[in-house]
Amino acid sequence: MSEEAKDHQKTFYEALGGAEGIRRLVESFYPKVQAHPLLGPLFPADITPVMDKQYMFLSQFFGGPALFSEHHGHPMMRARHLPFPITEERAKAWLGCMAQALEEVGLERSLQLAALERLKGPAYHFINS
Ligand code: HEM
Repeated sequence: MSEEAKDHQKTFYEALGGAEGIRRLVESFYPKVQAHPLLGPLFPADITPVMDKQYMFLSQFFGGPALFSEHHGHPMMRARHLPFPITEERAKAWLGCMAQALEEVGLERSLQLAALERLKGPAYHFINS
């Protein structure tokens, strides 16, 4: 198979840089979340466990290994967010931090936009307040 044909078979996860790419994205994202006035107060001071869970979740969300389900069971992400007051403003802020992180890790613009597009659905779906 030609390199080009292989390229077309890449999963979105691989296009984002696989495990290492997702890890870098998460490490760029959470400091922005913590610094955001609307988001920071919702999160614990020790952000490491949240980063680990997000790494596992995004891995499977983008088509890589189903790490979150293996370690934490069914994602039920909307239910897991119910204890937190998620407003439309917070969903937009979350997506804004993610947009910055996607740019910061140096992904191609088209990939940045595609990733954001995929995350927009869940982010708005988690609004509960
Ligand atoms: C819409 C705005 C969002 C807000 C304000 C928000 C906020 C939060 C908060 C406060 C937590 C709990 C942190 C803790 O453990 O104390 C959390 C956990 C988590 N969030 Fe979000 N989140 C949002 C959107 C999303 C989206 C779009 C995704 C992924 C598509 C996501 C994935 C996760 C994951 C994987 C966890 C860990 C769940 C667990 O504890 O098992 N979040 N989020």
